[in-house]
Amino acid sequence: MYTELAGKTAVVTGGSKGIGTAIAKRFGAEKMNVVVNYFSDSKGAEAAVKIIEEAGGKGLAVQANVGEEAGAQKLLDAAINTFGSVDIWVNNAGVENRSATHELSLEDWNRVITTNLTGVFLGSKVALKYFVDNGKKGNIINMSSVHEQIPWPGFAHYAASKGGVKLFTETTAMEYAKQNIRVNNIGPGAINTPINAKKFADPVQYEETAGMVPMHRIGDPEEVAAAAAWLASDESSYVTGVTLFVDGGMTLYPAFQDGKG
Ligand code: NAI
Repeated sequence: MYTELAGKTAVVTGGSKGIGTAIAKRFGAEKMNVVVNYFSDSKGAEAAVKIIEEAGGKGLAVQANVGEEAGAQKLLDAAINTFGSVDIWVNNAGVENRSATHELSLEDWNRVITTNLTGVFLGSKVALKYFVDNGKKGNIINMSSVHEQIPWPGFAHYAASKGGVKLFTETTAMEYAKQNIRVNNIGPGAINTPINAKKFADPVQYEETAGMVPMHRIGDPEEVAAAAAWLASDESSYVTGVTLFVDGGMTLYPAFQDGKG
């Protein structure tokens, strides 16, 4: 636990399920105020708020589309109106779908890029403006992926969005470092969330993915949330512009494990 986080306010996008919910719960356990953004799953967001409040934090569910400028502004306004400020902004919302690139529709390309990359830009823009205008020490955490580094056939739009997030994070980290604003990425590997629950429920597919992970297991959303809490805390006060991979070693060229190669 990080005692300095108590009473701080965070916005977590895509907080109604998966990694976003785990981060919202962890922030609740840190006794923080959390704006839990959801797109359509109000029940999931309300359930997260309940858990945050049971843990001693305060929560507020807010519907918004992260791919729209008005959506990001709505989240900022909700945080300020309800909790008086924003200290930490987590751009977590993301979508994916499989398609061979030569069959990928422009509609799917736009949906993935708009949510995963433009959404990070729009959330960062309102948060940065608020931090700069108020001379506030700010903290932005973007949810990238191992696929900011590892190519992923069938998911070119997803990999392009996460590769974009990597350089967007590094650039904004550099641009705002002098203003005491830190910007970091988390790069999850294979994590058991609704985005891939069906896949990991099948023992054959679970084993196929676990075989690509040196630690030989799929990760839990709480393990990603622990990284978010650390990046939000002062324990990481000299860390900016990095991607913290939470991937059981997936980015370490697992094919070389056991001295092969
Ligand atoms: P999920 O599907 O469980 O949750 C995604 C959340 O984003 C949902 O709450 C959804 O409603 C929300 N969302 C989607 N479009 C939105 C929009 N336009 N506006 C607001 N919210 C929107 O997925 P998961 O696994 O929790 O993923 C969270 C993040 O972690 C994503 O950015 C994903 O790319 C990333 N990630 C996940 C990995 C995994 O193995 N689960 C691995 C690497 C990265």
